[in-house]
Amino acid sequence: MSEDSICIEVNTKLGELTIRLLNKIGIVNKKFKIKKNQNSLYVPIIHKPNESELEFLKKSISDFQILITSFSLKKNPIKKIDDLLDNQIPKHLLKSLPQSMDFVGDIAIIEIPFELKKYSEFLARAVLKIHKNVKTVLSKSGPITGNYRLRSLKFLAGENRTQTIHIEFGCKYYLDIAKVYFSPRLSQEHNRVASLVGRDEVVLDLFAGVGPFSIPIAKNNPEARIISVDLNPDAIEFLKKNIRLNRVDNNIIPFVGDARQLINKNLVGLADRVIMNLPETAKEFIDVACKAIKPRGGIIHYYEFMRIPDSIEKVKHRFSKRVQQAGRIVDRFLFVKNIREIAPFRYQIAFDVIIH
Ligand SMILES: C[S@@+](CC[C@H](N)C(=O)[O-])C[C@H]1O[C@@H](n2cnc3c(N)ncnc32)[C@H](O)[C@@H]1O
Repeated sequence: MSEDSICIEVNTKLGELTIRLLNKIGIVNKKFKIKKNQNSLYVPIIHKPNESELEFLKKSISDFQILITSFSLKKNPIKKIDDLLDNQIPKHLLKSLPQSMDFVGDIAIIEIPFELKKYSEFLARAVLKIHKNVKTVLSKSGPITGNYRLRSLKFLAGENRTQTIHIEFGCKYYLDIAKVYFSPRLSQEHNRVASLVGRDEVVLDLFAGVGPFSIPIAKNNPEARIISVDLNPDAIEFLKKNIRLNRVDNNIIPFVGDARQLINKNLVGLADRVIMNLPETAKEFIDVACKAIKPRGGIIHYYEFMRIPDSIEKVKHRFSKRVQQAGRIVDRFLFVKNIREIAPFRYQIAFDVIIH
């Protein structure tokens, strides 16, 4: 049996590298067999690469095409969760099955709708059957809360643990998902920001977590100096482990503490770039971020949760006003994007802003 699929065509010499890169960004369509002719390899993908995925591929592969062609289906196509649960939950509830889940290392995290709660364990066992590399299934049992931005999680199936190693764009993150914030949904954003940093910049990662901005920046730029701050001592302990795991001991300096206090005490006027990934309350730190930027200016990567009917223009205006109140000016917004929907009518937006 064959079906049409969008795919990447490359010279066979680049085949192995291309498959590796596409797997890294997680867009290989595993339903189909990869096909080959004399000169070309065709790798089926699940969607047309977006801007940052294209940029990532072009860094390593100079010549490839995106086209649609027919592929043979693999002999044992991965079963869909609905098939596995067909006899275990009432048919009318199949439509409520979660459409997606988060994978953090070998842990799957699912959000189970109220009407499916009593079938949670069936669902978790089906996840283990389908995703052979998943060893633990947890469910979200509350929203992300508190200063450390943690979520309570419930163990459902597999190995009862919350620690794992997550790999993102070739960087490894050892973490405990019950003790630190981590979202695999931000991988493109981590990679995008890391790709912008210049060779010998000083970067201040104000809300660093376990290091998904700091580590790739350090890896790409061995001469850059990265100061990584987080209030959560567990996050900084894992960051220290990740610094060793990724062999970037020379250029990341981790600090536990409150961003405002640390900047006021030690970090005034030294950064070329400040990363502010604490969307819930980042606005309260715009003044100190401005203080941390070098007197000649620099760039702020700013994140905020926007609630409709607020508009991006409104958030930009508010941001500029706070920068002005801090005695600096916004020179230019280099990048403004709605990066993900976090709930109905709520979005995470990202700005890259030049500050003078
Ligand atoms: C949304 S998480 C982002 C973590 C990481 N940058 C990432 O992309 O995964 C925000 C982090 O900010 C930390 N945090 C909260 N308030 C803080 C403060 N006042 N000073 C420093 N870090 C803070 C939290 O502990 C949490 O790890």
